Amino acid sequence: VVTGGDPRAIVAAKRDGTTLSPAEIRAFIEGSTRGDVPDVLTAAFLMACFIRGLQDAETLELTRAMVESGQTLDLTGLRAAAVDKHSTGGVSDGVTLVFAPLGAALGLAVAKLSGRGLGHTGGTLDKLESIPGFRTDLEPSELHAQVERIGCAVAAQSSNLVPADGRLYALRDATATVESIPLIAASVMCKKLAVRTDLIELDVKAGSGAFMKTPVAATELAEACLALARGWERACIAHVTDMSQPLGDAVGNALDVVEAVHLLRGEKGGRLRDLTVRLAGDALARLEGVDPDEAADRADRALDDGSALERFRLMVEAQGGEPQVVEDPERILPRAPVIEPIVAVRAGTLAAVDAEAIGSASAALGAGRFRKGDPIDPAVGIVCTPKIGDRLEAGAPVGTVHARTRQAAREGAAAVLASFTLVDGPVPPPPLIHADLG
Ligand code: URA
Repeated sequence: VVTGGDPRAIVAAKRDGTTLSPAEIRAFIEGSTRGDVPDVLTAAFLMACFIRGLQDAETLELTRAMVESGQTLDLTGLRAAAVDKHSTGGVSDGVTLVFAPLGAALGLAVAKLSGRGLGHTGGTLDKLESIPGFRTDLEPSELHAQVERIGCAVAAQSSNLVPADGRLYALRDATATVESIPLIAASVMCKKLAVRTDLIELDVKAGSGAFMKTPVAATELAEACLALARGWERACIAHVTDMSQPLGDAVGNALDVVEAVHLLRGEKGGRLRDLTVRLAGDALARLEGVDPDEAADRADRALDDGSALERFRLMVEAQGGEPQVVEDPERILPRAPVIEPIVAVRAGTLAAVDAEAIGSASAALGAGRFRKGDPIDPAVGIVCTPKIGDRLEAGAPVGTVHARTRQAAREGAAAVLASFTLVDGPVPPPPLIHADLG
């Protein structure tokens, strides 16, 4: 240890490009988690890591320190094989809302520690908490018991589970230090490693709505996560998936839950359903040795026959939420006072979407946060229906803005239209999955 226990010296060492020792990383993370290291210094540490990068051994040690900042939980002895799916963050990425109950309906145990909205991306916890009464602060023992009983649970990291990630995640969001491969890998993987499951399944997003803008960068992130899993001898698969446009239609919080319920009722198709079916099918194939096509067929059937919806209802009820959300989500969930259509101003084929701009526009309406701990407005957001390759007609609706004021709605609609690139000729839709790794 070169730093004599002064956390400022650890920040200075990283600032100057020195490789930190395991003891330095552990000391810093422990001090930060206890509150002995103030937020300003932790923020400076994060920026130094962001700019200087971390060696693989430093990322492994950072991840270890984050896991060891709290309790761990072993879910490998359950009656069902346990899977933990995690996305690196995107726009209209409601996969977890559907995947967790779908996996349970397929006979798997899905235990998830999720995050809150980060930057322009939405957070599963914020979405679920838009259901009146829904609790995400499950104790490890509650999480274990719920997964054993109904097959799925989605909870927050807490003061007991990876508390270091809670602190770092919120500070990164507030200090422009999100888009760093080692920091994202450590943040994602510490949550996966603190809860021991039989399989970790990563959905690493690539494109305009993701932190990694290209499949190449996303593959690098996926490889960093897979390396951490190997370091911990944990089974892990990763998919690099398309985020060059919002995955589903809803970009907000309650709006995403409405969309998830329609999907779980088998009423809605599209890329969000297709990807969720594929991820759930792959987990089933890997854990139970089911043929992948048969596994995907079973996942499709579980959405169409109501069995996944029933698991969602049980999960909502078990976590204190209003279970009627599955019957009438529009009535149960908070609604914004102003709902305005978004209307295409000119005709053309949608060739590209700045999905980050749509995520940021939704955050600006109040669906995301700009400072650590800010409240979010569950009711507001954007519904944007066209996908790349679709033909838009001038004057035709392409979605809705859900806002507190007319002015905010107008600004949201303008941001959505400005995020579109329209061309005259045909455009092929992008692939849903760029690569399967691990
Ligand atoms: N998801 C996480 O859990 N952490 C990140 O840093 C980004 C996405």
